[in-house]
Amino acid sequence: MRRLPPSEATGLRTGARHSLAELYRPADLVVLGLGVMIGAGIFGIAGQQAAGTAGPGVILSFMIAGIACLLACLCYAELSSTMPTSGSAYTFTYVIFGEVWAWIIGWALILELQFAAAVVARAWGAITVRAISDFGVTLPRERLVEDLLVFVILVLLTGIVALGARIGLRALWIMVAAKLLAIGAVIVVGLAHVDVANFGEFYVPPKTLPTPPATVLEIFVGQSQAFGWFGIFAAASAIAFAYIGFDIVATSAEETVNAPRAVPKGMIRSLVIATIIYLAVAVVMVGMIPYTKISMDAPLSSAFREIGVDWMVHVIDVGAVLGLTTVILVLIVGQTRVLFSMARDGLIPRGLASVSRRYHTPSRVTLVIGLIAVVLAELVPVLMMQELVVIGTLFAFLFVAAGVIVMRRRMPHLERGFRVPLSPLLPALSLVATLWLMVNLRVLTWAWFVLWMGFGLAVYLVYGRRHSLLAQPRHPVEASRGRHRRWSGPAS
Ligand code: ALA
Repeated sequence: MRRLPPSEATGLRTGARHSLAELYRPADLVVLGLGVMIGAGIFGIAGQQAAGTAGPGVILSFMIAGIACLLACLCYAELSSTMPTSGSAYTFTYVIFGEVWAWIIGWALILELQFAAAVVARAWGAITVRAISDFGVTLPRERLVEDLLVFVILVLLTGIVALGARIGLRALWIMVAAKLLAIGAVIVVGLAHVDVANFGEFYVPPKTLPTPPATVLEIFVGQSQAFGWFGIFAAASAIAFAYIGFDIVATSAEETVNAPRAVPKGMIRSLVIATIIYLAVAVVMVGMIPYTKISMDAPLSSAFREIGVDWMVHVIDVGAVLGLTTVILVLIVGQTRVLFSMARDGLIPRGLASVSRRYHTPSRVTLVIGLIAVVLAELVPVLMMQELVVIGTLFAFLFVAAGVIVMRRRMPHLERGFRVPLSPLLPALSLVATLWLMVNLRVLTWAWFVLWMGFGLAVYLVYGRRHSLLAQPRHPVEASRGRHRRWSGPAS
């Protein structure tokens, strides 16, 4: 139940915890947010959900997931404006609820970021192979090529993150611009081919499926359903994957100039822009062809092929390859920042908190993360694990929303660069909306999640509890100051 003193999380400018160089300006944060949000979710999952779960109602699913994420985003904005550190939800929880909860959230964030990097890398491999074959090149031993490509992209991106945030940022701006152009083309060209008749059956009547109940809600109702309101909500939970990322912007707070004001703005703006883009793409996708004809494999490309605009397939391919590249890049950055914070607090080996004097990045932890991502992407069927990533993310949303309510009561005088309007109503709504998305996830996902968290708790009891900086005899603040000076020192 030890809690991190707020001064440790808020006192960045005192040098207590500030060991990463300030780099990001508000526009960079929007690019980070768009870089990590627009990816597999919109290029793949959206179409799959339209075809199999929600029909044209997928547009509503995007709205529902968007509203739930906007509520969570406001809560993240308030806490990161008060505690602009790279640990994000992990550090907020450490200050507000105490160490064991912080560890649990840190562990859930590992599930979100580390697994998402592997999931998206795998999707990137499949899309790249498809893009190559769409350009008419026949690849021998496709699966082997795909494995090799996944390895190469992860090594390359890990290298970029380890060598310097500035190189990564420049690459990110260029790739995000290119992917936005591709998405813009999808929207503009697609709109010209929308046939309103395709929206005719906007609300597809629910279908009872012969399969046994799979989501928590279905178990409660006693049957499996697709389409209808049930399907629309179930699709919203899957689609939450597309919104994953606005929360990662908060992990860059420690490296942001004037973070208390810039981070909330960057997070909210990127989420609003992404939501508008998603809705536009969803409208175009289900407007171009009947939802029954959307392919599960390559939904957007197949829709354009179906209406005879074949050249758009290449635009989508290039957009998706670049788009997913930026997603992986920012996921690795986010994961390094969270693990770096956990190491700095002593909950995982402190050597991982060292900042390279040469590159000014937490390069050691970056290499570890890259290695784990390669192992997961190459050896584990991660594409089946999208929902695990979602549940880890939503779990952190719960603590952030509750954290706003508790912190307003317990620490009302802390300086806040941003305040959630209508608190505690909106944070409470965020809790409800997040829980609703969670009960629409599969029971199997919950079971894996419980196992993962149980394993995490065991790791904490064996290691973190004893090695925590707060467990050391010296005063925690002093201990932490000494350590940072000795190990890394300010990066600039
Ligand atoms: N939001 C990211 C994506 O859709 C994780 O790929």
